[in-house]
Amino acid sequence: MTAVLSSDAGTRNAPPQHFEVRRFDAPVGAEIVGLDISKPINDADFARIHRAHLDHHVVVFRDQQVTPADHVAFSRRFGPLEIHVLHQFQLKGQPEILIVSNIKENGEPIGLGDAGVYWHSDISYKPKPSLGSLLHAQELPSQGGDTLFADQHLAWEALSPELQKRVLPLKAEHSYLAKYEELRSKNPWRPKLSQAQIDQVAPAIQPVVRTHPETGRKALFVSEHFTTRIVGLPQDESDALLAELFAHSVKPEFVYRHHWAPHDLVFWDNRSLMHLAAGTPDELRRKLYRTTIEGDTPF
Ligand code: SIN
Repeated sequence: MTAVLSSDAGTRNAPPQHFEVRRFDAPVGAEIVGLDISKPINDADFARIHRAHLDHHVVVFRDQQVTPADHVAFSRRFGPLEIHVLHQFQLKGQPEILIVSNIKENGEPIGLGDAGVYWHSDISYKPKPSLGSLLHAQELPSQGGDTLFADQHLAWEALSPELQKRVLPLKAEHSYLAKYEELRSKNPWRPKLSQAQIDQVAPAIQPVVRTHPETGRKALFVSEHFTTRIVGLPQDESDALLAELFAHSVKPEFVYRHHWAPHDLVFWDNRSLMHLAAGTPDELRRKLYRTTIEGDTPF
């Protein structure tokens, strides 16, 4: 993590906030209750939040009635922020926020409506994939709209010793374009990418098993959305191995299903988890704002 301690003396020495970290009754995840991310968070409180994030991989800050600027400022304490390649869906005046939404205004989508329809880890298609993402509920449907998180440390640990030995040295290609045209054919509102956008998302080669840079734990790091092939294997062998790993990595015993409450801010670790948007009925409105923190080169 790049920035844990505040460089601002006022923030560093702010009065403590009284909040609780409560682990979910699930394989992964916890909620943080009583914290206000728009108020100064002193270094001791920030260290507790950081620890909770490393221990639980996804933390839900409840009841954050905060502005996009507060969301961005809090996210920045964990590291520099990514600007998503689909600049069409940036929040006006706040380019670090990607709008995730199925809402159309005057026939035009206001956000990325099919974000997360396949399991993935954010930005795994870049040489430095994301450390983590923070998704803030703005408008929630009365049904559906859940987000699922699968713990890739547990997935790695549950592989047979033979399969662990086989996959440990392997590398795989990740590409943003892998499913782009397929998604566009189902959702014609998805923008056609310009050459400049295509150039920003050249495929990246990643280890199939990565080591978390802060905890040292190993995690599986392949996804049905972005991973296209295992380097050095014939395509049929690569397809078969990836299909086996994809099916294994999202078994129910590794998964927490988040049912959104108003003003939830959910912060997940892309180095530990994959996530999936479970889907929202078309006629119901859903809108969330996402910031994405830059990460390190996986090893
Ligand atoms: C995402 O993949 O960032 C969006 C997840 C969601 O909409 O639930």
